[in-house]
Amino acid sequence: MATDGAVGGAGTVDPGDLDMKDKQRVYHDWEAATYEGKFNISYDQRCIDYARDRLRKVVGPDERFARVLELGAGTGFLTINLALAGCLEGAELHVTDISPGMLDVCRANAATNGVTLTATAGDVEDLPYEDGAFDLVLGHAFLHHLPDPGAALREAYRVLAPGGTLVIAGEPTRRGDRIAGVVKRATARGFRALTAIPALSHLRRPGVEAAGGSAADAAVAALEHEVDLHTFDPEGVAHLARVAGFTPVRVVTEELLANWVGWAVRTVEGSVRPGVLGPRWAYAAYGAWRGLSRLDELLEGVVPDDLFYNLILHARRPLEG
Ligand SMILES: C[S@@+](CC[C@H](N)C(=O)[O-])C[C@H]1O[C@@H](n2cnc3c(N)ncnc32)[C@H](O)[C@@H]1O
Repeated sequence: MATDGAVGGAGTVDPGDLDMKDKQRVYHDWEAATYEGKFNISYDQRCIDYARDRLRKVVGPDERFARVLELGAGTGFLTINLALAGCLEGAELHVTDISPGMLDVCRANAATNGVTLTATAGDVEDLPYEDGAFDLVLGHAFLHHLPDPGAALREAYRVLAPGGTLVIAGEPTRRGDRIAGVVKRATARGFRALTAIPALSHLRRPGVEAAGGSAADAAVAALEHEVDLHTFDPEGVAHLARVAGFTPVRVVTEELLANWVGWAVRTVEGSVRPGVLGPRWAYAAYGAWRGLSRLDELLEGVVPDDLFYNLILHARRPLEG
């Protein structure tokens, strides 16, 4: 079982035999116990502010929603933090994900944080909900995992009531991702060079098997390099949403310098032995990210949109149609 950051439980699964949907499920089930540590997810002011600010970029505080669904919700980062921020007051909350393991963690997080939600396992390309069941459909960092993102947008349209709102944040842009790749590789090289010094070698995160996982665990862990399927052109995502029937459709992009620091931080967090970095690191990193985000806002309109890393899709299902 899990020791020192490894996750157990892959059993006898041979990832080579799986189709992409099963790979997503098996990988995220396997990762569920360590996912929040890897991405420094928490349910405190840092992540509450982050979640609220993503929604407020596109949806004003006066808009109220009675029935809310999050797609590809994972461990509940977005919905739970938005609920804690007071952005979903009075709403009936539903979340769905292809990974039952992620949803188990989500239910536990909701209970710990006093948030009432219903979590249902399902494929967002074929949602287990009635037509017109929701007023707001949310998502964060899941669209790029789907073989057919357009199918998910069509399903989001179907389960939204006429006049309903779609907000999907945290999806990588194509050009932003290329730049982030340079940052990630440079940071990883720097970390490897630093921890090649014998006195610092204990800082390195052990591999899955060295941390007590089985060969099957290591094979599932390696799916990490297969499950990110897409990056997006902002106009391409807007086009997919329009084809699904949404109008109006708006895509905003965010995070340039902030994202470079963000990926450097996440690369260190993914490389370092669990437990070495504490909450002070998380807050310091978030402080740097926030400062640079403000600078990035000044660069919006000056630097081309598609160089920013993250995009937010904001669309409506029209009243008629
Ligand atoms: C990077 S995680 C993001 C989780 C969460 N939204 C967050 O921001 O922390 C991607 C999530 O998409 C889910 N996923 C992948 N393919 C899916 C599909 N076809 N249907 C539903 N969920 C899917 C995964 O199980 C995983 O929980």
